[in-house]
Amino acid sequence: MKIVIGNDHAGPVLKTAIKEHLKDRGIDVLDLGVKVGEKIDYPKIAEAVALKVANKQADLGIIICGTGIGVSISANKVKGIRAACVSEPYSAKLSREHNDANILCFGARVVGEELAKMIVDEFIDAEFLGERHKRRVQMITDIENKR
Ligand code: RB5
Repeated sequence: MKIVIGNDHAGPVLKTAIKEHLKDRGIDVLDLGVKVGEKIDYPKIAEAVALKVANKQADLGIIICGTGIGVSISANKVKGIRAACVSEPYSAKLSREHNDANILCFGARVVGEELAKMIVDEFIDAEFLGERHKRRVQMITDIENKR
């Protein structure tokens, strides 16, 4: 599995912790985020991560900003992206199982490191359940394709 990760200036410390956690799990990580002391406006990093996922250069994406909100709103503007902004593991798991989310977003000012690792684990270990959820996810794509 390959994961692309990104962060704005609110999230470099948490991003590094998550990156190490993923590497410990044997997951290939592409890091597009900024380092401590660097600044970037969150829509830019969200778009960069979203394009990697949309173009199938990564299986899933993770984006961290202060709240997770700005990056999720931005990533969801890219066709084919279903970015979920969550702050606890249950929603992370269900975002994959029911919504086929392909990007996980959370806030470095909202969740602590250990909780963030649990959120990430639930997200990457879960699988889309298909069946009735497939029809509903298709309805999301239909909205995207209308205009
Ligand atoms: C940056 O200060 C902050 O606005 C950003 O990280 C994020 O929380 C936006 O949604």
